Amino acid sequence: MRRPDHVRGAGLVLVLLLLTGGVLAQSGQISRVTDPGVQKRMMAMNANNTALAILSDMMGGRAVFDRTRARDARRRLIYTTGRIPALFRKAHSDPLSNARPEIWSDWSGFRQQAKSARSAARKLDVSTLPRLRKTLPRMIHACLACHRAYRKDM
Ligand code: HEC
Repeated sequence: MRRPDHVRGAGLVLVLLLLTGGVLAQSGQISRVTDPGVQKRMMAMNANNTALAILSDMMGGRAVFDRTRARDARRRLIYTTGRIPALFRKAHSDPLSNARPEIWSDWSGFRQQAKSARSAARKLDVSTLPRLRKTLPRMIHACLACHRAYRKDM
């Protein structure tokens, strides 16, 4: 089923809002975090963000579509989303962390979110710009769904 244009347009607007509105923003606290486990998972999240920004810049026309760069960003998203369960398994804590305790009290739910993010990363189609446009929103939704449930509002 093809979605009508206005729905896809809304998806694009959503992407732009999210990335400029800071919903996926970095806390800016990473250099002040003292727990190495927390630092490591924040670094991985920031790597997710960098890779995602490359793709959303292409999608939003702020960067030219470049298949090689897009492929590289996709690969990094697959790798980094795949590391999420291992990075969070131990309940490392730090006063500057934005992780919610539900990650560990509802570990299977958290893992499930990580799994769907990895699957969305795998399903990113970076062969052409229209295909990227079609497959990127799902990736972004997967990031946000987990944040909504397991990351504190900042
Ligand atoms: C399975 C859950 C989950 C998924 C999926 C997820 N995140 Fe996160 N993310 C978190 C949690 C939890 C934190 C808070 C970690 C902390 O502060 O200790 C976080 C933090 C962040 C941060 C802030 C790091 C900092 O410097 O404080 C960014 C940026 C981020 N995520 C981006 C992303 C992007 C982009 C994606 C999708 C490609 C994504 N995340 C997918 C759970 C997730």
